[in-house]
Amino acid sequence: MSAPEAAMIGEGTAVQSRIDEIIASRFACRDFSGEPVGRGTVEQILRVARFAPSGANIQPWHVHVLAGHAKDRVSAALREAHETARDRHTSEYSYYASDLPEPYLQRRQEFGRLFYGSLGIAQTDIEARSGQTAKNYAFFGAPVGLIVTIDRRLEVGSWLDLGMFVQNVLLAAAGHGLQSCPQETFSRYHRILRPLLSIPAEQMVVCGISIGRARDVAKDGAKGRLMPRADVAEFASFAGFEEQNATKMEGPSHGKPRRADSVQHSVSARGQGHDAGR
Ligand SMILES: Cc1cc2nc3c(=O)[nH]c(=O)nc-3n(C[C@H](O)[C@H](O)[C@H](O)COP(=O)(O)O)c2cc1C
Repeated sequence: MSAPEAAMIGEGTAVQSRIDEIIASRFACRDFSGEPVGRGTVEQILRVARFAPSGANIQPWHVHVLAGHAKDRVSAALREAHETARDRHTSEYSYYASDLPEPYLQRRQEFGRLFYGSLGIAQTDIEARSGQTAKNYAFFGAPVGLIVTIDRRLEVGSWLDLGMFVQNVLLAAAGHGLQSCPQETFSRYHRILRPLLSIPAEQMVVCGISIGRARDVAKDGAKGRLMPRADVAEFASFAGFEEQNATKMEGPSHGKPRRADSVQHSVSARGQGHDAGR
């Protein structure tokens, strides 16, 4: 792990495990080498990612995995739509609140400054920004592109599950030395993707994911994670820890799996969810 990545963990804390390292080294990669990634590797990534938790284990994820001509066909169609008809396409869901409250508005503005600044694009340069957006549809040059969908009949809780699955894909890819970029912008072109990928009517396009090797590891590594994060104190509050005996809680026995016979099962006769029968 490079020094900048370690620094990004913040508050003087270094990574403490391989999983810390993988989480901290992932970043939204937008410049891939075309070096192929085999189907076996992608299958292994998905095999691991499917262990994401989901409410009542409903596993609401669907993925179209694209490479080679299949990916190029999708890219060409979306790039053309982006060039010629972008105003006629819109996502089936809202990713951002139309009126972003603080502190999110300020963070999004900072994102724009850092992102376009790193590319040498003036934020007022609509043409150059559009050119950058177009690169999304070529999966930023990645050899593998995923299109992720969810059944529209499911509720917001299932989107939470889907997010966990998507993150698992990104982390499993990182475990293979691959970088990735989740991309909501694909959802805009669901009307084009639907026939191309035979996406059933009940499925909604949620996002794409580019997966591959960063074109220039040294360059991207040096950039590290371009985007900063708020300190833990800004989003978490703690209570009750002063009552704990720290050595007892953090000693070697902590974290041992519970005996199976001590686990309380709460599945109701009807089995409709975690709180059924309560
Ligand atoms: C669900 C989701 C959708 C995203 N969509 C896009 C996208 O369409 N295009 C893009 O370039 N980046 C996209 N991103 C990447 C974010 O901009 C990036 O994760 C964020 O700025 C933090 O940077 P980092 O991931 O490098 O730490 C998306 C991220 C998430 C989680």
